[in-house]
Amino acid sequence: MTLSRTPEPSADVSGYFDLERGLVDRTIFSDGALYRQELRRIFAPSWLFLAHESQFKKPGDFFTTFMGEDPVIVTMGRDRRLRAFLNACRHRGMRVCRADAGATKAFTCSYHGWSYDTSGKLINVPNGEDYPGHFEQDKWGLIEVAQLDTYKGLVFATWSPEAPPLREALGDMTWYMDAMLDRDPEGTEVVGGVHKWVLEGNWKLAAEQFASDWYHVNISHASALMVLSPTGKGPKKDIVQTPGRQYTDPLGHGAGFPTHPKSRFDDRVVHEYYDYDALRERLGDARVEGPTTTGHATIFPNFSYLPVNGSIRVWHPKGPDKMEVWAWALVDKSMPDEVKNAQRLYNLRTFGPTGIFEQDDGENWSECQATAGGFVAGGMTLNYQMGLGLEAQDGVHPGTTGRLYSDGAARGFYTRWRDLMNTPAWHEQPKAAESRTAEEDPR
Ligand code: FES
Ligand SMILES: [Fe+2]
Repeated sequence: MTLSRTPEPSADVSGYFDLERGLVDRTIFSDGALYRQELRRIFAPSWLFLAHESQFKKPGDFFTTFMGEDPVIVTMGRDRRLRAFLNACRHRGMRVCRADAGATKAFTCSYHGWSYDTSGKLINVPNGEDYPGHFEQDKWGLIEVAQLDTYKGLVFATWSPEAPPLREALGDMTWYMDAMLDRDPEGTEVVGGVHKWVLEGNWKLAAEQFASDWYHVNISHASALMVLSPTGKGPKKDIVQTPGRQYTDPLGHGAGFPTHPKSRFDDRVVHEYYDYDALRERLGDARVEGPTTTGHATIFPNFSYLPVNGSIRVWHPKGPDKMEVWAWALVDKSMPDEVKNAQRLYNLRTFGPTGIFEQDDGENWSECQATAGGFVAGGMTLNYQMGLGLEAQDGVHPGTTGRLYSDGAARGFYTRWRDLMNTPAWHEQPKAAESRTAEEDPR
C-alpha cells in the first residue's frame, strides 16, 4: 500500500495517564493532534470491523464503509473471495464507489472514467493512448488492505502487513464473543440495512463504555428499565446489586455481563425460542449464565456489540469531537422468520437510533463532549478508579475479570491505546519508507 509520510511528529502520551492509580487526562478526548496520531497509530495498524459475511451473497456484491476516516469498499470477487480496497481512485483520489451497497461488475470513477474490477485491477483508462509508453496500467489498481479475515461471520481487515493474525488479535475475547456468535451451529446473519447516525462525541467515549460501563445502566437508563420490568418500577434492589463480571483484555478489548438469572432484558419471543439446555451443552454453564444474558462488549478499538439486543456497531471517528455510529441487527441463522423479526424489532426499540437505551447513551456522550473543549474543563483529570485492585483470574471466565461495576476494562482499553500511541506503526519504520519510494515510482 502507499501512505504519505508522517505529516507531523507524534507525541508521547504517557503523561495523560496514571492507569495504575486510575487517572486519565481529559485532553485525549478533544485534542486535534492526538486525534491525527490516533488515525496513524491506532486505526492504521489495528484490525477493524468492516461488515458481516452475510452481506455478500454473490460475486460483485459490495459494501462501502470506513477504516478510521479512510473510505473502503468491501466486495466479493469472481472467485467469491472477499477483498477490501481503499475507495479512492488512483488518478485524482475521488471515491470510485459512492453507493452504500449493491452489486456491480466494475467500479468506474465518475471523474475521468478510470474503471476497476472487483479484484481491484484497473481495467479501463479512457484515452489510454495519450499516456506515455511507460504507463503501467497493472500498477495502478485500487490499494488493497494488507490483511482481511473473518471470525464467525464478522469481517475484519487491517492496513498493517505486520499485524498478528486476526484470531491472535482477538485473544481470549473470542470466548466472550461466542456467546453471541456461536449460539447457533448455523451461525449468524444480519437483517435489514445499516442504521447510521452522527453524534457529537469522541469515538472513545462510546468504545470505552461498551467495553466497561455497566455502572451507568441503573441511573442513565432508569426510565427504560421501568418500562421493561414486569412491575413497572425497574429491577429489584437485589438484582441491581447482584454482581456480574467484567472482563478486561491486555489487547484492549472488554466485556461486562450480569450473572443474576433475572438480569435479562431480552425479547419474550426470542427468549422462548431458545432451548437453554442445548445452549448450556454448546456454550457451557458459565457463558449461558453470564455473557448470553445481557451485556456489552468492545473489540479494540471501535467495534462493539450487545449480545442480547443483537446489535453490532462501529464507532467511526469523524474528528476529535464527532463520531458516526453504524449499527447492524444480528440474528441466528436458524431462527424462524418470526423470531428474527422479533429480534430485529427488539433491537430497534432498545438500541436503534431512537431506541430507549440508545438515546440515553448518545445524550451522555454528547454532553461529555460539549464541555471538553474548555481550557480548564478539557484538561482536568478524570476518575477511572472503580474496581481498582479487584481484578483476578476467577477460575470460571477466561482471562482477567473484575466486578461488573468497575472501570477495569476502560483502564485496559486506555493501556492498550497508550501503548499503541507510543509505538511507531509499521509505516513509520525506515523499511516501509524505502519500499514506498520504490512503489510510488513504478518506472
Ligand atoms: S479521479 Fe478517477 S478517473 Fe480521474
Ligand atoms: Fe447504556
